[in-house]
Amino acid sequence: MFEHNGIILRHAEESDLERLLELKNESWFGTHRVTIQTMEAQRDWWAKASRSVNDYIMIASKEAVDVGVYKVTNIDWINGLGDSAHDVFKESRGQRMSYPVLSAGVAFAFSVLNLRRLNTEVLVGNHSRKAAIKCGFIHEGLRRGVRVLNGEQIDSEVFGMLRDETQVFNTPPDL
Ligand SMILES: CC(C)(COP(=O)(O)OP(=O)(O)OC[C@H]1O[C@@H](n2cnc3c(N)ncnc32)[C@H](O)[C@@H]1OP(=O)(O)O)[C@@H](O)C(=O)NCCC(=O)NCCS
Repeated sequence: MFEHNGIILRHAEESDLERLLELKNESWFGTHRVTIQTMEAQRDWWAKASRSVNDYIMIASKEAVDVGVYKVTNIDWINGLGDSAHDVFKESRGQRMSYPVLSAGVAFAFSVLNLRRLNTEVLVGNHSRKAAIKCGFIHEGLRRGVRVLNGEQIDSEVFGMLRDETQVFNTPPDL
């Protein structure tokens, strides 16, 4: 377990699979009106992810309530790189948990995994970008047309952060 500013991160367990499946399908269903993942496919994903040394799937909790997920995946240990992503469970949304979950994840990735750089990507319009900027991710570019939602092409913003420039160990800027 890892603690950062009142957020506890623990490794996801098999018992979290249903919740993680719900999260995956729920955000997809909102725009596409179909679910994408079955429990069987979820178990196959878990069989690989839970054994991978290059992927960390962490559950974030606050005051003993699970509030979200932090993932650092595709870790390149030689160069100290990883892909960072976070979600807030729908019961905890709108309570400004996005930044605490992400900042705990970033602190874990830099101080425990000892990574040097984190990548993250945010679809244009997704308000998780606020937490990314607050943590110190720097906007590095735009990938055009990476998704089609209801017939409309959506771009994604590419962000990166180096350990040396992280702000998560300090007080976040008042954005
Ligand atoms: C995106 C997500 C992590 C944000 O968490 P949240 O609990 O909904 O958001 P928060 O309450 O922490 O608010 C974060 C910021 O966004 C703002 N915000 C919240 N809802 C918003 C909305 N609908 N539109 C615009 N801004 C919004 C808040 O005011 C807050 O800004 P502030 O810190 O300046 O006050 C969460 O909604 C989620 O997990 N969604 C589904 C999966 C997903 O999209 N994951 C991110 C993949 S990149």
